[in-house]
Amino acid sequence: MINIAILGFGVVGSGTAEVLTENKKIIEERLGCSYAIRHILDLRDFPDSPFGSLITHDFQEILNDPEVTVVAEMMGGSHPAYDFTKACLEAGKHVVTSNKEVVSTFGVELCRIAAEHGVRYLFEASVGGGIPVIRPMINDLSSNRIRKISGILNGTTNYILTSMKEQGAAFGDALKEAQRLGYAEANPSADVDGIDAARKIVILAALASGKLIDPKTIPTEGITKITLTDTHIAQLFEYTVKLIGHTYVNDDGSLLAFVAPRMVPVTNPLSRIDDVFNGILVSANMVGDVMFYGPGAGKLPTASAVVADIIDIIANRNTEIKPIVWREATPQDILPFEEYFCPRMFICQGSQKDLPNALASYPAKEADGACGVITPAMSEADCNALAVTLGDMLLATYRILN
Ligand code: HSE
Repeated sequence: MINIAILGFGVVGSGTAEVLTENKKIIEERLGCSYAIRHILDLRDFPDSPFGSLITHDFQEILNDPEVTVVAEMMGGSHPAYDFTKACLEAGKHVVTSNKEVVSTFGVELCRIAAEHGVRYLFEASVGGGIPVIRPMINDLSSNRIRKISGILNGTTNYILTSMKEQGAAFGDALKEAQRLGYAEANPSADVDGIDAARKIVILAALASGKLIDPKTIPTEGITKITLTDTHIAQLFEYTVKLIGHTYVNDDGSLLAFVAPRMVPVTNPLSRIDDVFNGILVSANMVGDVMFYGPGAGKLPTASAVVADIIDIIANRNTEIKPIVWREATPQDILPFEEYFCPRMFICQGSQKDLPNALASYPAKEADGACGVITPAMSEADCNALAVTLGDMLLATYRILN
């Protein structure tokens, strides 16, 4: 019998209890052993829940229970989630998590502590919700050098952008609906300002390069400045505006990661990923391009990924598995963002005839009293310099995904 403790009985924590219970028979058949949920840690009581009798408010009860071998951390936030995770690993308990904030900030240390104590720290649910992506990257792409990842990594913002595009929905209404559906973070700024996607792209970048970049240091833009006019002009050019997390890894291991809204050509499969779905396009040197697609947030999809990690741990409990080893990225590892080179869209006030000479020769489309212009590829530094010369007439610039 394997005993499991759950830390945090919110959306994902309660979903994990539900998956472990609803599918118990089939999971136990596959594992060839039985398991039980032994404790659930939360500040609140849940007298009406079938799991109410398992609730404890005391983390020490879990830490000091030698019968608990697997802990599923779904508290969210850095503290005390990091502290509890570290304590569990040091006590020789395996930990699985959906907490991308903890993995992206403390992943190097927590993976090292897990290895030192002969236990595993797994985080399939931290990126892409229910999509299997972390394990396939570790296992199935291990014969490849991963060069580039472009992903729609946040379900809430993709839901909002889809509602704006398809229904002309107001930003605030679409966000409220995403919150009602249980997709949004406790503080939705983490979603709409791109912070959640930044945490996820640095985790993917670490899987590709072995180096974990501090997510707070990567260039990060959210979706709050995107207007309906931008989406109309995008459609005229056959683009879709998507919030994309990117990473590029050079052969020498240097890398770049950033998050920004981008114009995605309709010919790119990421342009057709709508609502809460996420898509992660991985370019690798042997297999070519592979895409991972599925529900990027939500109770049961995310819980499905958490339980996959629990199953992996139970199934391999008597096998020695090579631990994940990352190191912290240094400034020397990071490619200069000013040199990032791609085609651009400039959106200016007025019509095509009002465009300054610098933009006048490029393809242009008009909507809602504004004009979008597509330029050839240029660096961040050149784009910023051109933006300054456009002054008040410039409404927005976008990088085009190529
Ligand atoms: N708030 C996150 C999202 C939850 O919308 O993608 C899943 O990580």
